[in-house]
Amino acid sequence: MKIACVVGARPNFMKIAPILAEMKKYPDIEPVLVHTGQHYDYEMSQVFFEELNIPKPDVYLEVGSGSQAVQTGKIMMRFEEMATEHKPDMVLVVGDVNSTMACAIVAAKLLIPLAHVEAGIRSFDRTMPEEINRVLTDAISDYLLTPTEGANENLSKEGIPEDKVTLVGDIMIDTLLKYKDQAASNPILRTLGLEKKSYVLMTMHRPFNVDIKENLINILNALKEIQKHIRIVFPMHPRTKARIEKFGLDKVVESMENFTIIEPLGYLEFMGLMINSKFVLSDSGGMQTETTVLNIPCLTMRENTERHETIEDGTNILVGNNTQKIIDESKKILAGKGKSGTYPEIWDGHTAERIVKAII
Ligand code: UD1
Repeated sequence: MKIACVVGARPNFMKIAPILAEMKKYPDIEPVLVHTGQHYDYEMSQVFFEELNIPKPDVYLEVGSGSQAVQTGKIMMRFEEMATEHKPDMVLVVGDVNSTMACAIVAAKLLIPLAHVEAGIRSFDRTMPEEINRVLTDAISDYLLTPTEGANENLSKEGIPEDKVTLVGDIMIDTLLKYKDQAASNPILRTLGLEKKSYVLMTMHRPFNVDIKENLINILNALKEIQKHIRIVFPMHPRTKARIEKFGLDKVVESMENFTIIEPLGYLEFMGLMINSKFVLSDSGGMQTETTVLNIPCLTMRENTERHETIEDGTNILVGNNTQKIIDESKKILAGKGKSGTYPEIWDGHTAERIVKAII
């Protein structure tokens, strides 16, 4: 069975790593790793291959950046060529990035069985490209591999037959649990001169936070206050860097003494920073789940989430880009009143095993 496994953007890499490792145990499975090239910088892509032992892609589509339609269209054209040539028996996509949806559509139209890992999660906010990618990919998938019971319920409400859906757990957690100890002792803290629990780890790259000047300023105003009380460390996404320059906000950023901007990091350094942080301030999807499993308070700069369990049972709180809310919740954590929580039992590090069993 030849399975085309698709990756494209940073959050895909830690999801595909355990699946490929598990597939190796089955001599009848021949994975063909396809990298669309949605992310292409060393620190946004290759570093994850090196650290997580992901094999070199068999096919590289080199699509690069572009508007939503340009990027999606380019991926579809190149993936269709690839799929016609390699004739996979199945296409497996992960997550919710443009590469996920683009390759899913191509597979469905070529009548190639399609598996979607991380199916069924919903923010119900269709202003985000990821939500559109999720809904469309799930609508045309044959094997929907879900992280939570809530995801199964969402799919059932959308009329997806139960026999297509398998609850497998959260694939990102397989990678987290495997590398947790190694990451915790990563020298990154020493390199940056940080003590454990003496800093906030921040990430931010969502278009609604960084492409709209007013929202970006709201967040920077919150940071100005927080950094008076605790250091903020921010590995900055290229999109955010470009917007700060475009809006002429460099001076505001530079004026904050306790705000450390660094380049995007690889998995081990980044997780090392997360595990040892006081709390996380972010607009990421995956980090909401990772912080909940690590029992680290997380403030999510979004109005909604597709990861509801992290709010209901975990350590996550939604703060949007509301200056006062971000400051208030940060101060609560600094005063020792951070959220602690639990997470679904099925996030046990064995999700890849269940995925491969399900597709077989
Ligand atoms: C994409 C995903 C998002 C995910 C994020 C993680 C979609 C719709 N969005 O958003 O869900 O959370 O990746 O990073 O798929 N760029 C570089 N180098 C790179 C890649 C991008 O400089 O290697 C710059 C380019 O200027 C590009 C911009 O970042 O235009 C945005 O990249 P893009 O892949 O379009 O979206 P992300 O914001 O990264």
